[in-house]
Amino acid sequence: MTELSQTALLHELEPVVAKNLDRHLSMAKEWFPHEYVPWSEGRTFDGPLGGEAWSEGDSTLPEVARTALIVNLLTEDNLPSYHHQIASLFGPDGAWGTWVGRWTAEEGRHGTAIRDYLTVTRSVDPVALERARMVHMTAGYTNSHDSSMLRSLAYVSFQELATRISHRNTGRITGDPVCEALLSRVAADENLHMVFYRNLLGAALEVAPDQTMRAIAEVLEDFQMPGVGIEGFTRKSVTIALAGIYDLRQHRDDVVAPVLRQWDVFNVAGLGAEGEAARDRIAAHLGGLEQAASRFEEKRDARAAKLAARA
Ligand SMILES: [Fe+2]
Ligand SMILES: [Fe+2]
Repeated sequence: MTELSQTALLHELEPVVAKNLDRHLSMAKEWFPHEYVPWSEGRTFDGPLGGEAWSEGDSTLPEVARTALIVNLLTEDNLPSYHHQIASLFGPDGAWGTWVGRWTAEEGRHGTAIRDYLTVTRSVDPVALERARMVHMTAGYTNSHDSSMLRSLAYVSFQELATRISHRNTGRITGDPVCEALLSRVAADENLHMVFYRNLLGAALEVAPDQTMRAIAEVLEDFQMPGVGIEGFTRKSVTIALAGIYDLRQHRDDVVAPVLRQWDVFNVAGLGAEGEAARDRIAAHLGGLEQAASRFEEKRDARAAKLAARA
């Protein structure tokens, strides 16, 4: 089967983008970051204004919540890199271009809101946060899907859902209803983003089934969260997984499996040999994830039991 070029795919999917853009705009609720930040709790910091420096005791959030918030915020901060990637792939024209702009504007709100909250509530060290942002954004973000629209669409379908879950669960463990409300609001946006990309890739499965199936397989086999470039990411992601904010079980059961189910991947008809082979890889990957998730859960349980015994 001949492959569709990027240009042909853009053209084929344009009406689907237009329809889902309309859907998105009708579903998305306007909201204002400033309404989610408890400004009256804020105090001037040291430096040019001569206020009080941040100290460890200022933060009332659990350590793990702070770690997750920093990872989530730095992830949002790399928006220029993500914009560059999708703007390069989708182009500035028509519904594609409108989506790129709208999506970017919505994502921009997330970083603004979370940073304002963290700064006003003195939840994290603002100097360390700013330094981490400089390092992270200077490095920027690229992934191995930059050159392929289908791989990028598959990646963001999973990634937006992963981000939704991560924000929502982070909110829950902060123990702060204000933060939880903010992160639930952000998570609701991420869910709509996921639906947009998921619908688009679902249409691609009809237009170019073999090519799209291969893209899904490749993305799953090589999946990394967009925060992977954050300093100490491995250590931080273990902390986040141990706290049940985002772990392999959630990745498999709440992200990968439901998206595959929505695409009805295992019942797509009319695949050629290449598509069938890709689908087998997807099934094998799911099996591998199941094993890895169970292993992780056993280890986490054993660790919890050991800690409980010590206490
Ligand atoms: Fe976001
Ligand atoms: Fe998003």
